[in-house]
Amino acid sequence: MLLTTCVFDAYGTLFDVNAAARTAANEPNQETFKEVWPSVSNLWRMKQLQYTWLRSMTSAYIDFWTVTQDSLDYALEAHGLHENFDLKDRLLALYWELQPYPEVSPMLKKLKTMGIKTAVLSNGSPEMLSSAVKSSYLFDVIDEIISVEKIKIFKPSSLVYEQVENVIECSKSEVLFVSSNGWDIAGAAGFGFETAWVNRSQEPIERLPDKPTHILRNLEAITSFFDN
Ligand code: LAC
Repeated sequence: MLLTTCVFDAYGTLFDVNAAARTAANEPNQETFKEVWPSVSNLWRMKQLQYTWLRSMTSAYIDFWTVTQDSLDYALEAHGLHENFDLKDRLLALYWELQPYPEVSPMLKKLKTMGIKTAVLSNGSPEMLSSAVKSSYLFDVIDEIISVEKIKIFKPSSLVYEQVENVIECSKSEVLFVSSNGWDIAGAAGFGFETAWVNRSQEPIERLPDKPTHILRNLEAITSFFDN
């Protein structure tokens, strides 16, 4: 079956989740944070993901913005920074306008000129996703923004991947699903999508039942899967 539709994960795939902490660390009067920002950012992301899985497992769904705030609270306290309220507010504000990776815009533009349908499928709340897409000037090159908010369960539930066929006119065999999260790729592959894992930092492959169809270093080669 010919691929007609390219669906992207948002955080870590299109948008750099470390951009918020990196930017804040380079602002004036952030000497302490400058020393520890990579560790804070890493723990923030890990806790954010863990909370999504735990909340799905225990039927305790709450929107991704609340999860993002809770996980930042945890990460700041673990580094003794939880009373730096200005830093917390700044990091949260920056999360609404995360920078996209440099190849994102040209790659999406090329997909659109090729007539490919494009979408984002993310744990993010609709407001967070619209804000990230808008601040990156990607509105014209993304056809649909699909959030888990409507079904109130996080990835990698198969109910999330099922949303693609509900929202876009396509069958799952026409979809290339792209994510930098190995566990998200495993979920999408198990659901039946062709998948491209963007392994930016040379992580080991997840020991989960379903493996990626393609493994890439960044998003530059995505358009080649639609060339025919
Ligand atoms: C998302 C997270 C998993 O955007 O990166 O859904």
